[in-house]
Amino acid sequence: MTNNHVRISQLKDHIGSEVLLKGWVYQNRSSGKLIFIVIRDGSGLCQCVIEKTSFNPEIFDQLSRLGQESSMMISGLVRAEPRSIGGYELAATDAAIVCPTTDYPITPKSHGIDFLMKHRHLHLRSQRQWCIGKVRHTVIDAIRRFFNDNGFTLIDTPIFTTIAGEGEQTLFEVDYFGRPLHLAQTGQLYLESAAMAYGKVYCFGPTFRAEKSKTRRHLTEFWMVEPEVAYIDLPGLLEIAENFVSSIAARVLADNRAELEFLGADIPSLEKIKPPFVRLTYTQAVEILTGPRTQEFLAKQLQEFQAQRKNMEDKIAELEALVAGQSSKQWQKDKAAAEIIDLRTELEELNARIENNPKHAVLAADFRWGKDLGGSDETIISLMHDKPVFVTHYPKDAKAFYMRTDRTNDKVVENFDCLAPAGFGEIIGGSVREDEYDRLIERIKHEGYNPEGYDWYLDLRKYGSVPHGGFGLGVERTVAWLTGEKHIRQCIAFPRMMDKVVI
Ligand code: 4AD
Repeated sequence: MTNNHVRISQLKDHIGSEVLLKGWVYQNRSSGKLIFIVIRDGSGLCQCVIEKTSFNPEIFDQLSRLGQESSMMISGLVRAEPRSIGGYELAATDAAIVCPTTDYPITPKSHGIDFLMKHRHLHLRSQRQWCIGKVRHTVIDAIRRFFNDNGFTLIDTPIFTTIAGEGEQTLFEVDYFGRPLHLAQTGQLYLESAAMAYGKVYCFGPTFRAEKSKTRRHLTEFWMVEPEVAYIDLPGLLEIAENFVSSIAARVLADNRAELEFLGADIPSLEKIKPPFVRLTYTQAVEILTGPRTQEFLAKQLQEFQAQRKNMEDKIAELEALVAGQSSKQWQKDKAAAEIIDLRTELEELNARIENNPKHAVLAADFRWGKDLGGSDETIISLMHDKPVFVTHYPKDAKAFYMRTDRTNDKVVENFDCLAPAGFGEIIGGSVREDEYDRLIERIKHEGYNPEGYDWYLDLRKYGSVPHGGFGLGVERTVAWLTGEKHIRQCIAFPRMMDKVVI
C-alpha cells in the first residue's frame, strides 16, 4: 500500500496518481463484483470503487460488510468523476480495516433532536454538522482577521469576574476559594481599561449567562467577540460594525459556498450584505411596529404559512401512501419514511409560527415606547428588511448602566443593536460608554449595584476619560444566521442550554 497519504480536499492535485486515504465509512453498497465505499476523512467525501478481481476474496468480503463509521485506510488511483460526490473517485488497489463498526447509532435516516443531542459526540460527524462547523471556523478566522488587519490589539479578559456587566439576574456565581465571583457575561468592562492603554482593542472568548429562556437564540455558554475603541462616537461604531459584519459574510461566501449550498442557506441574500446597513432609531422602530405596515405584513405572512402548511400536509399524505403501498421497493419506503420525519418536524415548526403570528400581531400593536424590543419585535423588523438593521437610541431605563446618555435627549442612550435580516434578529449589541464620573456613579447606584465594587471601573472616568465605545457580536447567532440554521444550539460543538447539558 502506498504511503502517499492525501486528504480528500486535496485530491484535485493528485489526478492519475496513487494515493492513500485514511478515514471512516460514510456509505457502503455493493453489487456482487463491485463495492462502492464513500469514505469521509474530515476534509471531504470520496467514492472508492473496489473491484472483486483486484482484491483478495476474504478482504473483499470483509469490505463489503463494513458498517457505517468503520475506520479504514484505502489506496488507489485518483480519477476525476464529475458525477461522483466531491468530483473525484478512487479506483481502489488496496485497503486496510482499522476498526470495523456495526450498529452505528446515527443512521442516514432522520432522528429527533433529543436523540441527536444525546449522541452529540457522534453527531458531529454528520454532514450537516460538519458543514456548520466549517462555516463557524471561517467566521472565527474572519473575525480575527478583521480586527488584526485594522489596528486592534487582542486583550484576553478574565472569565472569573468581580463585577456584573449585563444584569445580576443572569450571573453564574462560582465559589472562588470562599469568595463569590462570577463567570464573565462580557469582557467589556475590563476591555474599556485596555482601550485606554492601546486605543483599539478586542477580546474574544466564551461568555456565560444564566438565561432562563429556552429560545432558539439563547445559550448559557456562547462565544462573543467584543471590540472597544477610544475616541469614537456612535456613527463611528456603526461604520466599524457594518464593515465587520460584511467582511464576515464575504469570507464565508468565498470559502464555504459548497457548505452553504448543502445547508440550503440563502446565498443571494448573503450577497447583499454590504455597507451601508439600514439605520433606524428605536422610536422609528416603535412607529413601524405599531403602525399599519406591520399588521399588513403579518397578515400576509400568515396566509403564506397556511399555504405552506397545506403543501406540506399533502406531501406527507403522498409519502404515507407510498410507505403503506405494495408497489414500492423497500429502499423507496425507507427514504419516504425518513422524509416524513423531516417534514413532520418542519410542520411542527410551521404550526408554532402560525400559532404565534396573531400573538406577535397583538404584541406589536400594543408595544409602548420604553420597553426593550423583544424577540418577536426584532423578528418583525428584521423580516421587513433585506439588509441588516441598526436600531439605535433605546430608552435609558431598558438598557445597561454603562451606556452613555444622549446629551440631546436624556431619556435615551447612545447604543445600537444590529438585527440580521430575514427574521433572524439581533446579532450585535453595543454602545458608546458613559464617560462622565458623576453620571456613571449615579447609574450604578440606580441599578442597585454597590459602587465600591466598581471603583477601578470608575477610575477610568477620573484619569484621562475619553469618549469611547464598542460592541459584542455573538458567534453562534452569526453562524445560525449565515447558514440558515434555525436554532443556535447546532452552531456550537457542545451546546449548553438552560434545560440541556447533554454530554
Ligand atoms: O447585547 P449584549 O448583551 O452585549 C454585551 O454583552 C455588551 N457588553 C457587548 C459590548 O458592548 N462589548 O450581547 C452581545 C451579543 C448579542 O447581540 C448576541 O449576539 C450575543 O451577544 N448573545 C447571546 N448569544 C447566545 N446566547 C445568549 N444567551 C446571548 N446573549 C447575548
